[in-house]
Amino acid sequence: MPFSRIAGTGGYLPPQIVTNQDLERLVDTTDDWIVERTGIRQRHIAKAECASDLALPAAQRALEMAGRRADEVDLIVMGTSTPDLVFPSTACRLQHKLGISQCAALDVNAACSGFVYALSVADSFIRSGTYQCVLVVGSEVMSRLMDWSDRTTCVLFGDGAGAMLLEASTEPGIFSTHIHSDAAYEELLYVSGGVSCAVDPAAQHGAFLRMKGNEVFRFAVNTLGRIVDETLEANGMRREDIDWLVPHQANIRIIQATARKLRLPMENVVLTVERHGNTSSASIPLALDEAVRDGRIRRGDNILMEAFGGGFTWGSALARF
Ligand code: ACO
Repeated sequence: MPFSRIAGTGGYLPPQIVTNQDLERLVDTTDDWIVERTGIRQRHIAKAECASDLALPAAQRALEMAGRRADEVDLIVMGTSTPDLVFPSTACRLQHKLGISQCAALDVNAACSGFVYALSVADSFIRSGTYQCVLVVGSEVMSRLMDWSDRTTCVLFGDGAGAMLLEASTEPGIFSTHIHSDAAYEELLYVSGGVSCAVDPAAQHGAFLRMKGNEVFRFAVNTLGRIVDETLEANGMRREDIDWLVPHQANIRIIQATARKLRLPMENVVLTVERHGNTSSASIPLALDEAVRDGRIRRGDNILMEAFGGGFTWGSALARF
């Protein structure tokens, strides 16, 4: 059975930066509160771009690193909860922007776990022998889901896209992926408007992300601790076998708790939350790309990726770069 190998990574952030000081002028918050509670100092915010626009340069950079042409891609899997449109899917629209046709393209919505879910789908298609070259993307314009008068959410999120080009290989690559969900906690984290179901009156005025952050926080820390054990056990590995933690970047305190669980020094954790905020599905591939391009992550290093998000959804992937 073939494995998936990470042949290339890419990332893209829209140029406009919004700092905590900018947000102090918008809502009743302070730079000190945001930094202390979240680790975030700034975030990138898209102007007119939609998710497929951000995804395009990220995908092109991953293809370039892999030395692949776009027309060699067999499948595009896009993690996003801020799609351009309901349909065509954002993956289809990215396919068109890449100037290709024919290959399969689909979106995966698992909120902030979207990239890990998309990676799991892509890896399964490669392992089954169905496809040999798969583009996995996480792209989000979270700023469009923000209620910019709600200080409890608008300070947390940012926009961006990250991509990974997977190829079939005789050696790992991806050792395993693990994905879970539990919808019993919907009221703790949801978007207030949709298409076939408007879950609260605010939906009449648009779709906004709503979150009871402190309750989500507790659930996330416990769940991510468990998934670290699940992932190591599934591969017969020990904590010391992990070289790098590349976590979803929601909150520095959640990331520190997971690193403690792994007994991994923070130097071996890839952090972007300070500069990017929470870019949902984009955060893991953006962080991975940064650490690959600056030379921290090298071929042969073992990487643990993990995420938690709305749904609730959570997941992990263990890979050798
Ligand atoms: N500025 C100033 N004060 C604020 C702000 C703000 N921006 N936001 C909230 N506060 C206040 C609250 O009103 C509260 O005040 P009170 O004590 O007078 O009632 C106080 O700060 C503490 O609020 P908490 O919510 O308890 O703060 P907490 O330390 O939990 O931090 C945070 C909040 C950052 C949201 C944290 O809980 C968190 O990161 N949660 C997890 C988020 C997450 O991982 N989500 C999943 C992914 S998202 C997705 O899937 C789309």
